[in-house]
Parts: sequence; structure tokens; C-alpha cells
Amino acid sequence: MPGRFPAAWLDELYARADIVQIVSAYVPLKKNGSRYWGLCPFHHEKTPSFSVNAEQNLYYCFGCKAGGNVVQFVQEMERLTYPEAVEYLARQMHIPVPALQEDPDYERRRTQRERLLAANRAAAKWYHAQLWLPENQRLLDYLHGRGLDDGTIRKFGLGAAPDSWDALTTELENQGYTQEELRLAGLTVVKPESRFDMFRNRAIFPIIDAQGQVLGFGGRAMGDAQPKYLNTSDTPVFNKRKGVYAANLLKKQRNLKRIILVEGYMDVVALIQHGVNGVVATLGTALTNEQARLLKRYAPEIWVSYDGDSAGQHAIVRALEIFEQEDIRARVLFFPDNLDPDEFIRQRGLDAFQQLRPLRAAEYLLQRAKEDLDLSDDEGRMEYARRSAQILRKVKEPIELDHYLKNLTVDTGISREILVQQMGITMPEPAQQRPSLRPVRRNQAENAHSMEEKTLISILASGLAPENAIRAEDFDTPLIRQLAEKLLGGISPAAILSQCENDQDRQEISDLFALDIQINAENAASMAEQCLNTVRVHRLQKQIDEMSANLNNLDAENKKEELQQLMALTTELNRIKRLVH
Ligand code: GTP
Ligand code: MN
Repeated sequence: MPGRFPAAWLDELYARADIVQIVSAYVPLKKNGSRYWGLCPFHHEKTPSFSVNAEQNLYYCFGCKAGGNVVQFVQEMERLTYPEAVEYLARQMHIPVPALQEDPDYERRRTQRERLLAANRAAAKWYHAQLWLPENQRLLDYLHGRGLDDGTIRKFGLGAAPDSWDALTTELENQGYTQEELRLAGLTVVKPESRFDMFRNRAIFPIIDAQGQVLGFGGRAMGDAQPKYLNTSDTPVFNKRKGVYAANLLKKQRNLKRIILVEGYMDVVALIQHGVNGVVATLGTALTNEQARLLKRYAPEIWVSYDGDSAGQHAIVRALEIFEQEDIRARVLFFPDNLDPDEFIRQRGLDAFQQLRPLRAAEYLLQRAKEDLDLSDDEGRMEYARRSAQILRKVKEPIELDHYLKNLTVDTGISREILVQQMGITMPEPAQQRPSLRPVRRNQAENAHSMEEKTLISILASGLAPENAIRAEDFDTPLIRQLAEKLLGGISPAAILSQCENDQDRQEISDLFALDIQINAENAASMAEQCLNTVRVHRLQKQIDEMSANLNNLDAENKKEELQQLMALTTELNRIKRLVH
């Protein structure tokens, strides 16, 4: 973080801090290849996936994706703030700490974040206190009526937003927060003529992150008032696609075997009250890759437990896809009789919960695949076999695969050899679905593209890129382009990581820097060239596709011109394509 310490002094600190030596004080390391390896201190593991890159001054765990620079390592291990960790390291290395310096912009942003977090904390405290006042009795009655005891209410810091226009706003203004701060925190709605509390007459669920910071709130309406749940909209400190509800409790439960992901705040609270641990919910949106990566840090497996309705089923399939992308083992846990987790645990209790068996991802998908088919019919059995083959391609464990194949030969009457053969085939899409293929193909191209971008950025980060070979314009993904600009501007990977404002960004960026490819002085230049050519091919192809699609909208004159340009682009495309292969 710029501003707190002079840049030159920080550079020297980073240069002198030997990350291998510092990490070794906590984790025994062994050198293997270009990295040092050890057991990850941030998640439970039996074989080392935690690595230290001495040249780049970075650590990264291939298992849980924790990563960062030497200061951040000390921050995590010693639970210090950034400036505290810098001073801690400086003391260890006997480097005198310089006096503070002023950077108004950094100070402003930092102070704003801190102010908003403080306002949220004050609001959470106030909401919680409101719950015990006689005038808000009906809100407390509501929570009791939903089976929650006072211990649980305290554990989650649940609260009451009274039935008043501006009680919270007035209180926080009296505590010294400005209207602008309250608006930015999402606590107060400001209109030209008035301002009022965002949450009124609702039961309040504070959303607290792993560091114990209150990021936002969910509010449950009383009775049938709409919307049933109101969430803080995104603010400078809250992004509902990045966090999960009850992340604060997750951090306290070390060595979880699995995490249960449910839909509702109430489901989380009820399950935990009844003794089920490791339960979280998304924040009123569908699961994102970022959330999946966050959860991956806390347990080796995730059980998805959404409603059994069709929207819920769709969300389960989508979540399984995300877990697959993030290489996370997943299962699906159904609650019987259309009960949601909250209803189930209250009606049937913990023992009944422990009897429930989650389905493996493939097991769930196979079950779904045959739901609309008639297996007493040849066509139905063949279609089931086709769908199953697609599903089974993703099963990695031979034993699990064998189990499904056995059942499938029985269900479909098709031999194991043929099923395995079918698994090797990419099935052509049915003709009538052709138009909808386009976005999918695009997507794949974009993914491939971004693999090139990732390689290019790690070449830049390695410092081995030939001068002027890679430019910021070569990157399309905004985050990666920003990184490229910084690296090209001479900022080191470690310094970039130290500027990250939150864990998720840091994780994503160290993920990029740690890309497991062997870059060395010999191969860097040719690797960069290959990647750049591939990026250019993708861009040209996209441009050509777009131009061709637009051709018929043009009049004769313009069309002729456009065609000439298309031909020139195609020639260029073919020239580069020859270079790539
Ligand atoms: P209860 O009726 O309180 O038991 O709700 P539930 O826990 O059964 O939740 P439900 O399945 O209705 O919703 C699950 C989650 O979706 C909630 O925790 C919210 O995060 C979100 N949600 C539900 N209703 C709304 C809504 O009206 N607006 C928004 N933004 N989110 C909602
Ligand atoms: Mn419910």
C-alpha cells in the first residue's frame, strides 16, 4: 500500500526480506525445481502444495490458492494489519522504520473504507440492541417464533430494524457519521427532500467476513411485506458476488471436512443452532467462481443444498459447473418432502440430518438425465446412454467411474466397451440447436484466449519478457490489462500484491502470477511470441466474424469496400496462423 511508508524504503525492505527464510520459521521447506515446497499453513493437507518462489518473493498454495508476498505472509500468520506486518519485518531485519508520510489519496480511500466499516459495525450493534427493547418485541418474537434461541441470536448478531423512517440514521448522525457516509454504506437512502433508513421493520442479519468486519446486511420482512429479503446493495466495502453469509464462523472452524452451501440466511442460522457446522449461504445471488474459490480455502468438499424446485435444480447444475471449473469436489444434499434446511432441522432434528446422504455430483446429474426419459423404450435408453457418457467424461476417479458404468450397463443394456467408446466422442449438436451454439463457441474462444493472457502476464511477472515485446494493449481482460500496465511500469509482482485492497483480489492475482509454467531465459521470448500470435488470431477472427455477420446490412458500395477489407484481414489471419503452428 503506497502512502504509509516511503516507496524507496519499502522497496529495500522487500528486496532484503528473504521469503524462504521467513516462511521457514513457520513451515519447513524443501527445494524442488524452481520453487520451495512445504505443507500449507492455511489449510489442512498431508502432501505439500504450498510453494515459495524466492525470485519473485511470493508464496502460493496450489491447494487452497492462498498467496501473496512476504509481508502478507506475516500478516496472515501473525494476524497483523499491513503496516504492523511491515514494521514487524523491519524490526526482525533491523531496518529502522521511517516516520509516516502523507499520501492524501491513499489516506482518503483508506479512511473512507474504515469509516464505512465503522458505520456498519455501529449499525449492527445498534440493530442488535434494538432487539431487546420493549417497543421492538414483535421482532424478537418473530425470531423466537422461527425457533431461534437467544444464544443463536447473539452468535449471529441478529438485530431489529424498528418500524421507523430514520431511527438508525439519526442515531448514527449523532455518533458523527455524515449523511454521505451513511448513504455510501447503504444504510441510508438519500433523496433530494429527505433521507430515511434503508432497513425498516425487518429482522436484521449482519453479513460479517472472515476478518470479523461487518460488510452489509440482509433484512427479513415481517409477514408478507415485499421484498421478503432486502440486502445491502454493492458499496465500496460490500460486493455480494464475492462474499458468503457466515464466513466469520467458517474461519473459526478449522479442518472442516465439508461445507454445506444453502440458499437462505435462515437456513444457515437454523442448521448451526442445531449443531451442524460449516454452513454458509450466498448473498441473494447465484454462486460465483469467486465464492467457490473462497470456500475452497476452508474445506476439501462442498455440499450444495438448494431447493428442489426447478429454479433450484437449475442453480444446482450451474453450481456444479462452477465447482468443476474450480476443481472442487462437490456433492448435492437434498432435504426430503420439499422441506428447506431450516424446516427440516426444526421438524426432524440433528439425528435425522445426519442420516441424510449427499449425492456425488455425477450421481445427481445421472439421476437428472433420466428424469424425462422412458427407459422401457429403446430410444429412451439410447438417449440416456448418450447423456450419461457426457456426464461420465468428467469423473476422474476410476473406482467411481466403474461404479456408474456397472449400473449403466444394467439400465441401458449397452455394454461397457461401447459406453466407454461413447465417452471418448464429442457429440455433434442436433441441427436445430445450431444457432444457439454461437455464444458457447465464443466462450470457449475467450477461455482459450485468456489462457494466453495468463501466460503472457506470468512472463511479464517473471521479468524475462524481451524488451517491448508485450504491451498493455495485448490484453483484453481489464484486470489482466491493469496488471500488465503496472508490471510494464516497473512495479514488482510483490509490490502489486501489497497494493491489493482485499483478499479476493489478492488471491486472484497471486493465482495469475503463480501460473505453473516453467518460464526461463531460453523459452520466454518464443513463448511470448506464440501467445501474442494466438491473441492476434483470436482478435482477427472475432473481427472477421463480426464483419461477415454485418455484411448483409450494407448497401452495394459499402459491401464492396467491406469485402476488400475482409479479404485483407483473412490474408493477415492466415499468415499469423502459419506462424502459430
Ligand atoms: P424464509 O421465508 O425466511 O424461511 O426464507 P428462506 O430462508 O426460506 O429463503 P428463500 O428460499 O425465500 O430465499 C433464500 C435467499 O434468497 C434469502 O436468504 C435471500 O438471500 C434471497 N431472497 C429471498 N427473497 C428475496 C427477495 O425478495 N429479494 C432479494 N433480493 N433476495 C431474496
Ligand atoms: Mn425458509
